[in-house]
Amino acid sequence: MNPADLARPEIRALAPYASARALADSAGILLNANENPWPPPGDPGLGLNRYPDPQPAELKARLAELYDVEPEQLLITRGSDEGIDLLMRAFVRAGQDRVLVCPPCFGMYALSARIQGAEVVEVNLSEGDSDWTLDPSRLAAAPPCRLYFLCSPNNPTGNLLPAGQVLDLAQSVAGHGLVIIDEAYIEFCSEPSLAGHIAATPNLVVLRTLSKAYALAGCRLGTVIADPQVIGLLRRIIAPYPLPTPAIAAALRALAEVDKVSSQLAELASEKRRLLHALSAHPAIVRIWPGAANFILVRTSPAANLVAAAAAAGIRLRDQSAQPALSNCVRITVGTPAETDRLLAFFKEWKP
Ligand SMILES: Cc1ncc(COP(=O)(O)O)c(C=O)c1O
Repeated sequence: MNPADLARPEIRALAPYASARALADSAGILLNANENPWPPPGDPGLGLNRYPDPQPAELKARLAELYDVEPEQLLITRGSDEGIDLLMRAFVRAGQDRVLVCPPCFGMYALSARIQGAEVVEVNLSEGDSDWTLDPSRLAAAPPCRLYFLCSPNNPTGNLLPAGQVLDLAQSVAGHGLVIIDEAYIEFCSEPSLAGHIAATPNLVVLRTLSKAYALAGCRLGTVIADPQVIGLLRRIIAPYPLPTPAIAAALRALAEVDKVSSQLAELASEKRRLLHALSAHPAIVRIWPGAANFILVRTSPAANLVAAAAAAGIRLRDQSAQPALSNCVRITVGTPAETDRLLAFFKEWKP
């Protein structure tokens, strides 16, 4: 099965734009891209007068190593947000195709689907005794969709999805749909990525990002990992020069020191334990979902009071009450030890 056959026919037929940097490398005298021949004032040696490599080989090789996949299985994008958007535009026919999401979940899946003119099918996660779960029989009862978005650990509930459930879904929809597993927060837990299953499950797509554990949200760098034929299709519609030169340079610098990430992850895990311990004893916090990521979800009443009181104390929290099943729920990101101190001092004083 070629998963690229599921794409919109007009995208499959499209002749991609060939940018100057894609047609020829940047050696020699560059008179092929109408650039200014001099670097701008203050250029930190990056050659900012030149268009960047559309998919820089060094960063691609580094990410392939980091994610343990082949370079031709990945496309570097402006954050996972762009990966989600590219998948919608390549695979979803406006007014014809459906996109499945599992709320409560990251809002960009449904928003991107609606921008593309797709019907959004919602199969809600269930709030179990100990965690959020996805009922396979409800997934099986959903109408056929072109794209199925799952997220593990899920934002904002933090729950993991069993790998077998994701792979079973991919198998069962292989004739008509792609299953996208968003692993934006996977570095915060010990679960392995599903990227290694793509070769055997070609309609599986994995989204990774440098925005969270790798501390590069400001660089906007995400990675779509998929069958090389899917990657080839997405390359047809991505902007000619999506990745700014300073972002590429910053990512290469940060990825040269990945050891720092593991010590930060350990520190965040310890801050999370401290936060959970303190909040579990708080009389106004009626439920806590610790989750597997760098945030926790709590229920209080009313959530708006907590968010407003925290804001007045200079602390920003995220009210999740508008999501299905999350009335009076607030998501709290784990910060530095000093930030946790401030947060816990706030909670000590706070009365709803
Ligand atoms: C589940 C999930 N996926 C994707 C993203 C977007 O990530 P990026 O910064 O790579 O666009 C977020 C951002 O919060 C997220 O929570």
